[in-house]
Amino acid sequence: MGDLRFDGRVAVVTGAGAGLGKSYALLFASRGAKVVVNDLGGGRHGDGSSSKAADAVVDEIRRNGGTAVADYNSVVDGEKIVKTALDNFGRIDILVNNAGILRDKSFARISDQDWDLVHAVHLKGSFKTTQAAFPVFKKQGYGRIVMTSSNSGLYGNFGQANYSAAKLGLVGLTNTIAIEGAKNNIHCNVIVPTAASRLTEDILPPDLFAELKPELIAPVVAYLCHESCPENGAVIESAAGWAGKCQIIRANGSLLRTKITDGVSVENVRDNWQQVTSMTGAEILASIQDATGALMTSLDNLRSGDVKKEEMDVFEFTE
Ligand code: NAI
Repeated sequence: MGDLRFDGRVAVVTGAGAGLGKSYALLFASRGAKVVVNDLGGGRHGDGSSSKAADAVVDEIRRNGGTAVADYNSVVDGEKIVKTALDNFGRIDILVNNAGILRDKSFARISDQDWDLVHAVHLKGSFKTTQAAFPVFKKQGYGRIVMTSSNSGLYGNFGQANYSAAKLGLVGLTNTIAIEGAKNNIHCNVIVPTAASRLTEDILPPDLFAELKPELIAPVVAYLCHESCPENGAVIESAAGWAGKCQIIRANGSLLRTKITDGVSVENVRDNWQQVTSMTGAEILASIQDATGALMTSLDNLRSGDVKKEEMDVFEFTE
C-alpha cells in the first residue's frame, strides 16, 4: 500500500496557528493538500486577536514547498473561513474544527460570559464552519469533518463545567452529522486529544508534557480525513502515539414492573436498582434504532404476558 496523499484536496484547519491545529496543517500540507490556516490569534481565554499565529504557520508551509493561505476570522464567523477556502482554492474537502479556548472556573463561579464564550468558540464555531461547508460537501459527494472533543467532556474535570458541556456537545453534533452526511460520502468523526500546548502547559505535569507532542496525534486526524478511511461517527481518543475508539455502553437494565397494566412505583425502582445499574454484559448500541428497538422488545415482553419476578431479575434488553 502506498503513502496516503491529499493531492488535489483542500483542508481547512481552525485554530491552526499553534498547538494541535498547527501540527495538522503542517501534515496536510506535507502530504499535498492546499491548506487554509485559520487562527484568530487571540489569548488562551478568548481575548484579543492577531494575524501573527496564522501567518507564521503559512510561512512555514510555504518554506517547506507547500500551499497555504491564512485566515484570521473567528470560528464564530465560520462561513467566512469556508469562503476563504473557496475564494483561494475553489473547493473544500476537509474541515478540522480545532480552535479552542479555556475559561476555567469552579462551577459556582462560572459567569454567563465564561459560559457563552466557551460555547461560542467550541460548539457554535464548529456548527458555523461545518454548516457552511456542508452544502459544498453534499454537492461534490465528498467531505471529511473532524470535531475536537476532550476527556473533560467525556468524563468531567474539576473547574471545566462550561468546557465539558461544550466538548460533549460536539459528540452529539457529530452523531447526527454523521447520519445526515453518510449518503453523500460525508464523514464526521471526533478526536479526543491530549497534547502539550498552551492550553495544557500549566495543567499537565512537566515530564508528561514533554511526551505529549501534537505531532503524535496529527496522523490520526489526517487518516480520519483521508478518502480511504471508512470511519464515520466515531470518537477516537489519541495521545503520545496511541489511539483508541470510545463508545457509550448501556446496561441491560431491568424491567420495573411485571404487567403492562402495572404502574411503576419509586419502590420498584429501588428494588431493581442493582440490576438497573449493573454493567455486567452491558451492550454497545450502534444507533438510536437499536436503542428504541430494545425498548420495544421489553414492551412486547410485557404485553405478551406477565413477566415473572424471577425472569425480571435476569431480563436482558436483547433483540
Ligand atoms: P492552543 O491554544 O495551542 O491552540 C488553539 C488555537 O485556537 C490557538 O492558536 C487560538 O488562537 C485558536 N483560537 C482560539 N479561539 C479561536 C477562534 N474563535 N477562532 C479561531 N481560532 C481560535 O490549544 P490546543 O491544545 O492545540 O487545542 C486545540 C483543540 O484541542 C482545542 O479545541 C482544545 O480544546 C482541544 N483539546 C486539547 C487538549 C490538549 O491536551 N491540548 C485536550 C483536549 C482537547
